Amino acid sequence: MRIDIISIFPDVFTPLHSSIIKRAQDKNVLLLKIWNLRDFTTDRHKKVDDAPYGGGKGMVFKCDPVFRSIKKVKEENPKGWVILTSPQGKVFNHDTAKKISGKKGLIIICGHYEGVDERIKRVVDEEISIGDYVLTGGEIPAMVITDAVTRLLPGVLPEGAPEYESFINDLLDWPCWTRPEKYRSMKVPKVLLSGDHKKIEQWRLKKAIEITKAKRPDLYRLYLKK
Ligand SMILES: C[S@@+](CC[C@H](N)C(=O)[O-])C[C@H]1O[C@@H](n2cnc3c(N)ncnc32)[C@H](O)[C@@H]1O
Repeated sequence: MRIDIISIFPDVFTPLHSSIIKRAQDKNVLLLKIWNLRDFTTDRHKKVDDAPYGGGKGMVFKCDPVFRSIKKVKEENPKGWVILTSPQGKVFNHDTAKKISGKKGLIIICGHYEGVDERIKRVVDEEISIGDYVLTGGEIPAMVITDAVTRLLPGVLPEGAPEYESFINDLLDWPCWTRPEKYRSMKVPKVLLSGDHKKIEQWRLKKAIEITKAKRPDLYRLYLKK
């Protein structure tokens, strides 16, 4: 999948250049390109924002640099699904990440300051929020979306691995332990040492259900409905 991110802070995306997301790029499963919105301005000062009509504090992204950047990026990513990061968007979750991972490409616009000129929303396919709080800019949301979507692309995680993570089938993940078997009088559950894979699988599912019921009753209700 190709993902293009348009931002006024193109240097902050270093977390996308390490670990699994880097490996996805090395394997050519993900092609990631970060664009500087200021490169699409036409004035000497590379101004991307202006004061809001009607007055008030803060600045607003102007239409022209954003429209021009989307046009240019679409030349390279013609089927890119255009997302505007916004606290007013649909709240991002596993299902949205899954849906987006099936798209032909993705273009993410990172807002900043007070937000963006309302007319920019006409050229985006979807507004996405990463939660009910206000961040300084759309850069962290863009990284969250890119990371969550990339993990779901075929070939990024080991075969079958995404099927056992939280939110698949409306359950949280089961609990894990590693060596040593006993640490400060705390022991690893016996069943995990039994070598009986069927028994382990059943036990893990039981634990995942218990954990979901205790920590996320809203999710547990969805699980029961299935
Ligand atoms: C300071 S915020 C603007 C907040 C806006 N004035 C409001 O109250 O809804 C600047 C930018 O950060 C991004 N942003 C902030 N919080 C976000 C969130 N929860 N999810 C996604 N993007 C967010 C958006 O791109 C937004 O345009």
